[in-house]
Amino acid sequence: MKDPVFTRTILRWFTENGRDLPWRRTRDPYAIWLSEIILQQTRIAQGTAYWERFMEAFPTVGDLASAPEDAVMRLWEGLGYYSRARNLHAAARQIVAQGRFPDTYEGILALKGVGPYTAAAIGSIAFGLPAAVVDGNVYRVLARYFGIAEEIGTTAAAKTFRTLAEDLLPPEEASAFNQGMMDFGALQCTPVSPGCGSCPLAEGCEALRTGRVALLPVKKRPVAVKTRRLTYVHVRCDGRTAIRRRGSGDIWQGLWEPLAYEDAPDGFLQAAFPEARITLLRKAVRHVLTHRILLCDFYLMETQTPPALPDGYVWVAEKDLDGYGKPRLFELLLEAAGGR
Ligand code: ADE
Repeated sequence: MKDPVFTRTILRWFTENGRDLPWRRTRDPYAIWLSEIILQQTRIAQGTAYWERFMEAFPTVGDLASAPEDAVMRLWEGLGYYSRARNLHAAARQIVAQGRFPDTYEGILALKGVGPYTAAAIGSIAFGLPAAVVDGNVYRVLARYFGIAEEIGTTAAAKTFRTLAEDLLPPEEASAFNQGMMDFGALQCTPVSPGCGSCPLAEGCEALRTGRVALLPVKKRPVAVKTRRLTYVHVRCDGRTAIRRRGSGDIWQGLWEPLAYEDAPDGFLQAAFPEARITLLRKAVRHVLTHRILLCDFYLMETQTPPALPDGYVWVAEKDLDGYGKPRLFELLLEAAGGR
């Protein structure tokens, strides 16, 4: 959907309010690329100092390409994520090998360490290519102005926002529009306390009109970390034990588990298996997964005759257990049970 008022307003706002950044005073694609790679990793204030040091040490892409890796890594120090510095160095060599800086979107995207956002930024800023940048700032500005309540992070939302950003981008002024969106998101339409009182887009802003500025964009709520209490029982009967393969619909699909219960009350095992000798091995073993914490009691259950077990359990020789895929928690049970 094109919206000439929106596009014109961003361009005018950028002319009047755009930040004066050193890499905006050049069309040198090397300098612009370097700024974008550094800004993947840090904010403008810190990034500027790094960019200036890099430009001083390596004024051209040839200087960077022929520098020893150590020198590049040392200059990168403090930015973290050192694979980015290695990619930077490798990309400089790619560029030198090609004889010049690539000037198509695909050519730029093929550089190491350059993804769609960075390729669009470099392509538009250095070469005026009509490629729209889409990042968190752009999501926020578009979600608010157009009242888009799609949840960020889904494939469908990514397509919605990318299509809209591409429609709004004026092909002849891609550089100013993209950088206008970046700065507008960073300075005006901020995540918290946006400047709606002084916003040139206020009149047409759907979020402002409907009182949803603080609610847009819609972000996935972080999944609450739940604690689950488990009981794991290593059954031992004449050199064999009982295991079951986990089905779909839960964690550890396809892996094998021992006799297991959730939220079992104290004393339950002995009551269920009165003939067996039951030993508590470890209490409340803590196992942290992405979205849950497991607290697991480990038991050893020794019997003379195979007890009746829940559905799906098979008996296997204890010495063959290595051949079965197991979650870490099951391995810990086996270590505690010993005897293998
Ligand atoms: N963040 C990433 N690239 C940027 C740029 N060129 N200007 C401002 N902020 C940015």
